Amino acid sequence: MINSPIEDIKNRLDIVDVIRSYIKVHKAGTNYRAVCPFHNEKKPSFFISPTKQIWHCFGSCSEGGDIFKFVMKIEGVEFGDALRILAQKAGVELKKQDPKLVTERQRMYEITNLACRFFETQLEQSLAGKEAKKYLLDRGMNEESINKWKLGYAPDVWQGLSDFLVSKGYQKNEIERVGLALKGRTGNYYDRFRGRIIFPIFDLSSQIIGFGGRIFKQVKRFDGQEEAKYINSPATSLYDKSRVLYGLNKAGIEIRKNNKCILVEGYMDVIMTSQAGFENVVATSGTALTPYQLRILKRYSDNLLTAFDMDLAGGSATKRGIDLAQEEGFNIKIVTMPEGKDPADISSERPEEFQELVDSAKSIHDFYFNNTFSKYDKNTIEGKKDISKILLPVIKKIPNKIEQAIWVQDLAKGLGVREENILEELGKTKVEQIEKYQEEEKQLIKKTRKELLEERLAILIIKRPENASLIKKEDLALFSLDEVTVIDYLIENNGKIEKVPDNLKDKVNYMFLRAETELDDIDYEKEFIDCLDRLKDIVVRSKLNNLSNEIRLAEQDNSSDGKAQKLSEEFNQEAKLLKEI
Ligand code: CTP
Ligand code: MN
Repeated sequence: MINSPIEDIKNRLDIVDVIRSYIKVHKAGTNYRAVCPFHNEKKPSFFISPTKQIWHCFGSCSEGGDIFKFVMKIEGVEFGDALRILAQKAGVELKKQDPKLVTERQRMYEITNLACRFFETQLEQSLAGKEAKKYLLDRGMNEESINKWKLGYAPDVWQGLSDFLVSKGYQKNEIERVGLALKGRTGNYYDRFRGRIIFPIFDLSSQIIGFGGRIFKQVKRFDGQEEAKYINSPATSLYDKSRVLYGLNKAGIEIRKNNKCILVEGYMDVIMTSQAGFENVVATSGTALTPYQLRILKRYSDNLLTAFDMDLAGGSATKRGIDLAQEEGFNIKIVTMPEGKDPADISSERPEEFQELVDSAKSIHDFYFNNTFSKYDKNTIEGKKDISKILLPVIKKIPNKIEQAIWVQDLAKGLGVREENILEELGKTKVEQIEKYQEEEKQLIKKTRKELLEERLAILIIKRPENASLIKKEDLALFSLDEVTVIDYLIENNGKIEKVPDNLKDKVNYMFLRAETELDDIDYEKEFIDCLDRLKDIVVRSKLNNLSNEIRLAEQDNSSDGKAQKLSEEFNQEAKLLKEI
């Protein structure tokens, strides 16, 4: 029998490797552990089982599944796309003609790929393209970088790319959906990018999701206004600029290795620093750091170095991003760039200098103190007020109390006032609430005490299969229907994981993973008896509760001859069980 591609992929890929390519994982016994990428947490409650090839988060999101489920969730794609991504990784060929798999998204990726190749060819071969390429070379970029980042040129015509894509069998509205064409007032489509150097934008698995286009000669428009330096793809179902970090697809490994990520502002900065040998650099593409980007970065490293303009005063966007990063527990250092230069300039002129700047990055503390104290006169009352106006809100937001105390001390010393006064002002300082993650944290799925006990018993059977013999036939009635099938299965298979029926797979895998990660170093038999007793107790009490309600009803109902009496006997019978426990 020929394996299905799903089985084939599962056989060829190791779940740990796949997950590791997205998030930091570390070994914990036979399993691997990580900070869950799907909800906000500090302690790692995300487990990967290499033996069972499944993952599960025991934290508040309680998500879990196989590699496909993981890729679907982390990439935010449907099953068909996850299948394709993993097939590519595994080197498994999927039959092309399966129409179900050619999803809309797939066609969008085909378009971005073809467009990218079209732009690349234009850069190499067209007259204007060669001019654009010369511009890049003149700025110090080499051929290797141009190829590595797949830079291109969009010809300065209205329908260059569109015509090309139509000739390849794509519809104009599909091209528009990808953000590469615009619909004019007369209903005609025209190319979004014209006469610009093209920077393809990649997602984490290096698929092209959008483009940035830079002008390379200043052209005056007929209305006398200047063209924007960059235009970018609009938000599409592939591209959301608040979620993208340019360069992360290439920088991820290095960021993990260095445990450090350098943040810059633009495409050119990423490419030129990478060319100079800094491979742990990503760009926010001109926007402030968003919560989503921070969450992605968190999977790679806790240490951020920012190498862009920092405007301290007021609620600048950059500062908000940094504040947010600090709240999320990142260690942040600030690389101060020389006036009027950006990382791209420095790394093409003098790469060693960029290294020096990075090495002398300042802590946020020093950065704030140096800048405010050099900007205002600490010897005047006005100056003191200005300084504290900038620093107090920053101090207020420091989550670590010890760190906060140090800032307070330093500010008191710097201004020549008493600490109590700083603290008093700090108390009065209001801070704007930073926008939290939009996605509401999923409420912990509350399990009843009975469910928890049942699961614990299942785990204890897996830990010590002999425990199963402690369950008597009539005890099975104590378990809820769902659980009884699992317990039944465990008893039959003597606590081993073999030939699990499909309908039990998820639950059984979940129990086994828990068994591997929980309840170590205890007396399994004693604990088992204990739990079984508590389970009985719960069941009996709930029965007694029901009976007493029924008795009350029966007593009110005169026509029910002797019913109350019978129920009372039953009640006493059950209550005896309770005493035995
Ligand atoms: N940007 C943009 N639209 C603009 C200007 C900038 O989207 N009108 C984004 C781009 O992603 C750009 C980043 O902001 O890469 C940083 O802007 P800037 O520093 O001006 O551009 P560089 O990438 O440094 O490009 P260059 O050095 O060629 O000016
Ligand atoms: Mn620049």
